[in-house]
Amino acid sequence: MKKSTLVIIAIITFLPSCAYIAIKSAPSKHDTVTRSRAALKADALFWQIFHAGEYEKISNALESMTAAYLDAPNDSVTAAHLGWLHIWRLAERSRLQEIPSFITDDAVLAHKYFHEAVRLNPLDARFLGFLGSSIVAEGTIHKDEKLVREGYYLLVDSISEWPEFNFFTAGYMMSSQPANSSQFQEGLEWQWRNLDVCVDETVDRNNPDFSKYMRLLTVQGNKRVCWNSWIAPHNFEGFFLNMGDMLVKSGDWATAQKIYANARLSADYVKWKFRDVLENRIKNARDNVAQFNDDSSGPSGVKIMFNSSFNCVACHQQ
Ligand code: HEC
Repeated sequence: MKKSTLVIIAIITFLPSCAYIAIKSAPSKHDTVTRSRAALKADALFWQIFHAGEYEKISNALESMTAAYLDAPNDSVTAAHLGWLHIWRLAERSRLQEIPSFITDDAVLAHKYFHEAVRLNPLDARFLGFLGSSIVAEGTIHKDEKLVREGYYLLVDSISEWPEFNFFTAGYMMSSQPANSSQFQEGLEWQWRNLDVCVDETVDRNNPDFSKYMRLLTVQGNKRVCWNSWIAPHNFEGFFLNMGDMLVKSGDWATAQKIYANARLSADYVKWKFRDVLENRIKNARDNVAQFNDDSSGPSGVKIMFNSSFNCVACHQQ
């Protein structure tokens, strides 16, 4: 072969295609500095219904949030809130009398909007955690193992970026897996590690009494997400409710009772709407082992927090 022919072959082989260049050189979207009035108004409605647990008003909030996004599609907060609205509707679907099959589209849309939010603001690792979760949800629904793994590794990245927030987020996702699966086991391990990073020491797993750590309560910095706040008024209680559920599901109902009991340490416990749920969980811990492992238990059966009608609002309802 002639040398010139070889050169031409080499050029053709390594020359990026037109499409590649055109796509790579297209202008990027940049996060907005000032938020639009429509976005602020949509946010106000979102927080109002979310804090009130008004699941049935999600469509109204989606309408104004989507309109605000279309008007200013470079606002990472609006994009993320759209993602959260979709994932809320999907997560608490057991509230519905009949669950339409198209509710699964909420996973696809949550993926879309969290992806947008992460592109616009890669620094908020809460967006990354929820992007990972929505991709795992979408992959699971569509039986697309590649997508599930992509989501899983994003969750792992999100943990290293903000462990106090994302150990929970990532592990919570795994709580619906079978108790003997490696995913579930790792998710439970992540709840323990979440406690460790929140208090900067190894929590005693035989006697996980949190009372000695209550003095660490803060509303600032990365560790604020270990405690209650305006955003998540009962985060502390909700965290221990899920962790107790995961322990019960794993069969360790005795440790679960100690973990559940930590929720009572919160100063906001008396105001928590799901207090009775937790008290019953402590009482019925042993019986719930079978319940929580039974996928077929109908609408009346007791379900783990992740599969319940309070998946999100256990932490977020005022
Ligand atoms: C264990 C408690 C817990 C559960 C369950 C939970 N969250 Fe959160 N959520 C938090 C905490 C903590 C934060 C972070 C608060 C902060 O940044 O100060 C947060 C942050 C948020 C935000 C913050 C947005 C912003 O603008 O700052 C939204 C929206 C949200 N969660 C929605 C949801 C939805 C939807 C679900 C259910 C799919 C959910 N959360 C489940 C505890 C929880």
